[in-house]
Amino acid sequence: MKTPDIPRLIELPRIYDPRGNLTFVQNDDEFMPFKIERAYWIYDVPAGAERGSHAHIEALSLIIAAGGSFNVNLFDGAKWWKFTLNRPFEALFVPPGYWRTLDNFSSGSVCLSLTSLPYSEDDYIRDFDAFMRTKAV
Ligand code: TYD
Repeated sequence: MKTPDIPRLIELPRIYDPRGNLTFVQNDDEFMPFKIERAYWIYDVPAGAERGSHAHIEALSLIIAAGGSFNVNLFDGAKWWKFTLNRPFEALFVPPGYWRTLDNFSSGSVCLSLTSLPYSEDDYIRDFDAFMRTKAV
């Protein structure tokens, strides 16, 4: 398994089919940066709503636009990244230690997250000032 430590887009396998295309991931895939322990998805997002606004202490994530389009904004304490996700065969790898906000959801969009850890509130930093304190030298 590769363990990249910066955000990046990963192109997932695609099986083209005239009846509709298919994409998959599995834990032993060469490109997988971690073992998947949990999946969740966000849907029915009202126009103008923002999700996220937190960082993770340990959890790694792959974020996929399973449907529609949205933006993922990442901040490492010094630099912002902005990704527009709108392809179901593309996954955004997010390491721990990045503040994330998700916005600009299109109508009917579905944000699928695959993560390396079971849900635990202890792994969240939800206060931006507290996040910035983790970056203080
Ligand atoms: P939250 O992480 O705040 O969503 P966002 O991605 O917008 O930051 O999660 C919203 C609520 O759902 C919060 O009360 C925690 C709960 N939750 C779970 O119970 N299990 C999960 O796997 C996730 C992601 C959230």
